[in-house]
Amino acid sequence: MSTATDKGHGSFVVEWREGFKTGIGQVDGEHQHLFALVKQLDRENAQQAVDELLEYVVTHFTNEQALMESSGYPDFRAHLALHEQLASQVTEFLLSGSEWTDERVHELRKFLNKWLVGHILTHDLRFGQWYFEHTKARAANPSPVPVRPQRVGWFDRLLGRR
Ligand SMILES: [Fe+2]
Repeated sequence: MSTATDKGHGSFVVEWREGFKTGIGQVDGEHQHLFALVKQLDRENAQQAVDELLEYVVTHFTNEQALMESSGYPDFRAHLALHEQLASQVTEFLLSGSEWTDERVHELRKFLNKWLVGHILTHDLRFGQWYFEHTKARAANPSPVPVRPQRVGWFDRLLGRR
């Protein structure tokens, strides 16, 4: 398995691949975009890229959780806790320093890639499997995924922006 490549300067890049597929189009599309956002993190654009990334993490978690809740996924609460844990860990990292060095950017990208790969392969794929086993009628006749209007403001709350 070779999903990680070194771009040079110690950059650790992970590309989305077929093995990450949950089979739920919206979730997979959002996961792909998350990897792309992590990939574009570098020292020059760090703050802007981090802001954009966190905004999208919130969007993705909100959408994924709405789908889990509306489909009656039994592990919804446990999954929500994993998302909250990630938000806390990232917040802790962001509050631990203010200057973006190559090393710090590299550390964040490595952490996020590792988390994403582990989370998707273990927890999101499990949800994808459950979803198709339990919503066959919907899977055969897909309808737009209901998305709740309110968003989860973890990062704003944890970073004291609200
Ligand atoms: Fe998830």
